[in-house]
Amino acid sequence: MSRYTEDSFKRSMKLELNFNNMMQQYVGEHGISEEEIAALSGQIEAAEKALAEKGAGDKLGWRELPYNQEEVVTDIENYAAWAKDQFEAFVVLGIGGSALGPIATQQALNHPFYNELPREKRGGWPKFYVADNVDPERLVYLFDVCDPKTTLFNVISKSGSTSETMSQFMIIKELLEEQLGKEEAAKHIVCTTDAIKGNLRPICEQEGYKSFIIPDGVGGRFSELCPVGLLPMAMTGLDIREILAGAAYMDELCKNEDTFKNPAEMYAILSYIAMKQGKNIQVMMPYADSLKYMSDWFAQLWAESLGKKFDNAGKVVNEGQTPVKALGVTDQHSQVQLYAEGPFDKMIVFLGVGKFRENITIPKIYGEIPSLGFLGGATHEQLLKTEQMATEYALMVAGKANMTITLPEVNAFTLGELMYLFEMATAFAGELLNINAFDQPGVEGGKNATYAMFGRPGYEEKKAELDARPALDPRFII
Ligand code: PA5
Repeated sequence: MSRYTEDSFKRSMKLELNFNNMMQQYVGEHGISEEEIAALSGQIEAAEKALAEKGAGDKLGWRELPYNQEEVVTDIENYAAWAKDQFEAFVVLGIGGSALGPIATQQALNHPFYNELPREKRGGWPKFYVADNVDPERLVYLFDVCDPKTTLFNVISKSGSTSETMSQFMIIKELLEEQLGKEEAAKHIVCTTDAIKGNLRPICEQEGYKSFIIPDGVGGRFSELCPVGLLPMAMTGLDIREILAGAAYMDELCKNEDTFKNPAEMYAILSYIAMKQGKNIQVMMPYADSLKYMSDWFAQLWAESLGKKFDNAGKVVNEGQTPVKALGVTDQHSQVQLYAEGPFDKMIVFLGVGKFRENITIPKIYGEIPSLGFLGGATHEQLLKTEQMATEYALMVAGKANMTITLPEVNAFTLGELMYLFEMATAFAGELLNINAFDQPGVEGGKNATYAMFGRPGYEEKKAELDARPALDPRFII
């Protein structure tokens, strides 16, 4: 039996959600009372029911991912085992939900200087890059550090029409074919896309590219646990079965009908009440460099899912809570002043780590200088954790609502738990807010305007609308 199917292992790896400092008993009038939570019982029940009844067709296909991918996982593992020896580098071409998950898992689970390590210290796996933005400097400079002739490009796009991703693909396809010829170039491209819809699927068939499927009901920001995230993980030697096992364990915890034992439900309820109190900002502040990009991944999930103009009845509500990214302890020296003494418009979520994978002791020197000597003999893990506890305490005393999720350690299992927890909390918060957490009409607006400006066929009406916009007033340009 593998360790992640053992109950004792699961219990030892269970995440902890400590929300004492969200409550009025601790932070006073700006906190939340148990009565406020109890008053939501009707809404909570309705949200539980709505989520339980929805299926893949309602964009909840991601809930099945911890359970229904045995064949997919085997296919990914076999492909990764083949590709490992063929390529020096692996590059993700994707953006938004197709890039943030792969970035977050790599940062969390691999060596922080992974690409700089000699190949044997990377377990023989290729270097890893993500080209999400279309800043021209970035793509050109990428070719200075990875040679397309020895690189595998993973084009990730559910729609197959995202301009950023598809333009990168077009540049790289031409480059590869010029350098290697069509047949060999095809081996350097692997696609992750919809089974039927979009431009990429027919392109894969026509060009003979290896491809993986983004299943139905799995939107971009909920896609990390399908091949979107699993292939990039596997290509750097990470255990994709373990991240799915962690997600499955969290799924069990999130089925608990007692709200006080259900971490996703409680996360959503606290955030919902905080929003209604006018806390329009949610700060995500990991105290671990490895979790730094979890904040970026979470920011997209929370912002794109909950930031909505209309509710489910079509009423204008302009809901949402702005996610802000911070890093402990670094941002103690930049943003924490604002969190402690600024407006009561935010809740702060700390991500802590029980046991770090490495530690280092501060030497016992400078004993004669009391303001330095006290550090001697302690470890950096102790210093970091003490600073985290001190910040939590200082914010509590200042009446600022905050809560802490602690991962016993950062590994694929706990990361699966964390990501699934956030996905479930987002879905639940969407139900409480009575909005559709699974569409993104605001993003489409910008995409459509770009297509119109760039002359994409079918967008002539939009182009006319843009051309009719008021001319710029030169007085407002300095
Ligand atoms: O969450 C989302 O839906 C978006 O961020 C998409 O992932 C992003 O726009 C990329 O879309 P696609 O996968 O279709 O290229």
